Amino acid sequence: MDIDEALPLLGGLSPAQFMRRHWHKKPLLIRQAVPGMQPLLDRGELFALAEREEVESRLIVRKGEDWTLRRGPLARRSLPKISQPGWTVLVQGVDLHDDAVHALLAPFRFVPEARLDDLMISWASDGGGVGPHFDSYDVFLLQAQGRRRWRIGRLADPQLQPDVPLKILTNFEPEQEWVLEPGDMLYLPPGWAHDGVAEGECMTYSVGFRSPQRTELVKEVMVRTLEALEPDEDEPIYRDPKQPATGTPGAVPAALQAFAADAVEQLLKDRELLHVALGEYLSEPKPQVWFDPGEEQPLDGGLVLDRRTRMLYDERHVYINGESWRAGGRDAKLMRKLADERALDARDWARASEEARELLTRWADDGWLHPRGAD
Ligand code: SIN
Ligand code: CO
Repeated sequence: MDIDEALPLLGGLSPAQFMRRHWHKKPLLIRQAVPGMQPLLDRGELFALAEREEVESRLIVRKGEDWTLRRGPLARRSLPKISQPGWTVLVQGVDLHDDAVHALLAPFRFVPEARLDDLMISWASDGGGVGPHFDSYDVFLLQAQGRRRWRIGRLADPQLQPDVPLKILTNFEPEQEWVLEPGDMLYLPPGWAHDGVAEGECMTYSVGFRSPQRTELVKEVMVRTLEALEPDEDEPIYRDPKQPATGTPGAVPAALQAFAADAVEQLLKDRELLHVALGEYLSEPKPQVWFDPGEEQPLDGGLVLDRRTRMLYDERHVYINGESWRAGGRDAKLMRKLADERALDARDWARASEEARELLTRWADDGWLHPRGAD
């Protein structure tokens, strides 16, 4: 992708300009970001997804000031009537279940994939929505069908309504308001209060980017780091030849505390261990994802990553679906191309080393990638 090319998707800004001016900073309304936008799934297909066990879905019904939330799977017959106003079904991770929906994410690949969460689709009856709230996500809200009125404002007061099963702001102070038509898109950084209400039946696609929290990252990275940790035969043990006799045997010796602190600091100084743990975590598929093992088919005509595959890399490693490989030289270049473009062509395959081909074949066997053109 040319990050300096002006795009209709970004209202005539280039990805570079958008990231500088708006990303994580301020909202942007883009009329006709996707001209001719048509929903890729109809209402029935979306509801069928919401019925599935492995799909994350929610039903939110509003009656006056009363909100109810039900988590999926959502049986079709348990949903309110289409003609009943004020309800919405939200389906997370639709990109994992549908290739065409997954393809909608491609134009957003000017944002690092490590930040990408998923594409959510919501269907709402007239007046439906999730109420005024804020998210810790950067989100592109693309109107796919029908009209939705968005009101947004800076978060003046983060207090949430008590005794409501959803996170609804007590004091929402909208500053701007627009009605979005199919193809229009609204970008919101995290922490902006927003409320989208359907005007007639409507569908909205949300491309969401997660901002990991510090504690969550520390936990995930540490768990993986500790799993990878093996005792070393000649590593130092605690020695205390200078330990004097003590009259307070219950007290932990300061030298032992210092020994432990030093050991932990040494571990944390190992940036490679930390980067591997982080890469594995960030490339971990969502818990409900599984892959269908692939049939043995030649990859010499090129290959594409499965829509569910998450592939990332750093200076020394490639990460795919929660696993890591050390890669250098020509093979590293090839794997980085695969992660960036999600595909390799026949020429790439012809240039790949025997080891790289073996690895790619293994990933194909696992269903992580497929021969090009094989659907
Ligand atoms: C929706 O699609 O109704 C909700 C999206 C959001 O506000 O985050
Ligand atoms: Co939101």
